Amino acid sequence: MDSFYTSPELADALVGLATPRRRKLSIADFACGEGSLLLAAERRWPSASMIANDVSAASVAGLRKSRPKWRTACSDFLNPRSVLSSSLRKHLAGVDLVLLNPPFSRRTRQTFEVAAGDEVFHASIAMAFVVNSIPFLRPDGAILAVLPDGCLVSKHDEPVWRALRKQFKVEVIRDNARSAFQGVRARTCLVRMTKLSMPLPATEHVASPTALAIVRGCVQMHSRKVVSSRIGKPLIHTNHLQNGAVTSSGVYVVGAVLTGPALLFPRVGLVTPGKLCVLSKGRRVTLSDCVLGVACESETEVELLRKMVLADWPTFASAYRGTGAPYITLERASRVLCNISTDGRLLLTEASREAFT
Ligand SMILES: C[S@@+](CC[C@H](N)C(=O)[O-])C[C@H]1O[C@@H](n2cnc3c(N)ncnc32)[C@H](O)[C@@H]1O
Repeated sequence: MDSFYTSPELADALVGLATPRRRKLSIADFACGEGSLLLAAERRWPSASMIANDVSAASVAGLRKSRPKWRTACSDFLNPRSVLSSSLRKHLAGVDLVLLNPPFSRRTRQTFEVAAGDEVFHASIAMAFVVNSIPFLRPDGAILAVLPDGCLVSKHDEPVWRALRKQFKVEVIRDNARSAFQGVRARTCLVRMTKLSMPLPATEHVASPTALAIVRGCVQMHSRKVVSSRIGKPLIHTNHLQNGAVTSSGVYVVGAVLTGPALLFPRVGLVTPGKLCVLSKGRRVTLSDCVLGVACESETEVELLRKMVLADWPTFASAYRGTGAPYITLERASRVLCNISTDGRLLLTEASREAFT
């Protein structure tokens, strides 16, 4: 389990994302370590009351000495019994702001049982900290967390995010540099979760991973066989994805044909908003194996999907990973697009579909 503490700069950036509505704030970190996040909060709101919990007795003892006014607890936040038998119990439904940089490990794939709403999930350790924080929030409370990119797009956590997005507006604010933890930790991002005043009814979500037909091109650039325009279709490689449009390729190849309307984006390499391109209706192309395409039913749907992805760009970009050139897999693409398209801010609902047609 890692114990990478947050730098004061990153802690200040995280705390800077809060938009509190109350004067006298109650702020908690349930995996506080040496208290970096709460110290940043104290710099911003010196009169706020701080609640610090950690499983490490040494960390808690240190804070009791250095910050005698803080309320401290030493519980295992992944174990409800441990939490409920600690002084944290007093703070249930009383916290305005939860700050988290929870432990996460790339070595173990262990999951933890958590309950969100009426549902029970098996979540990653980082996600379990987020979910277990929810009962502590006031009705207008918020969570600010440093989370690993993997948590945003992992298979395990996908249903949990889906459930949380019914209760919270979830915003991925910034993709941190790897150097935030001196290269030793997975890539992370800052996530802001604000409670929605009216939870979204589950039945309104129409987009699902299976509803998105994502295809991967199969023409390898190094071994492509160029044919005449009578026999083949225009080959589309990543360099033909420019400023949101699919440019013409003078090269024709034989291979699987994708017919627009579709949304195209690179599978490998640096992804930028301009690389998210609309293939117009009726245009027929063949994709290189470095390009992915989402076939859509109408031009309205493809434009809407593009807008949704652009509005949640850091979430989409965080799905490109890898030690060398970043890449996205079909599975990750499907998951991240599904997460984005069921986001509370931009719902692809029957109602909004109608409004666009
Ligand atoms: C990544 S460090 C972050 C510490 C601090 N929040 C910060 O940002 O600097 C994670 C902390 O989680 C604590 N921790 C790990 N497992 C825990 C558990 N089950 N319950 C509570 N705290 C835990 C570790 O002791 C460690 O201090």
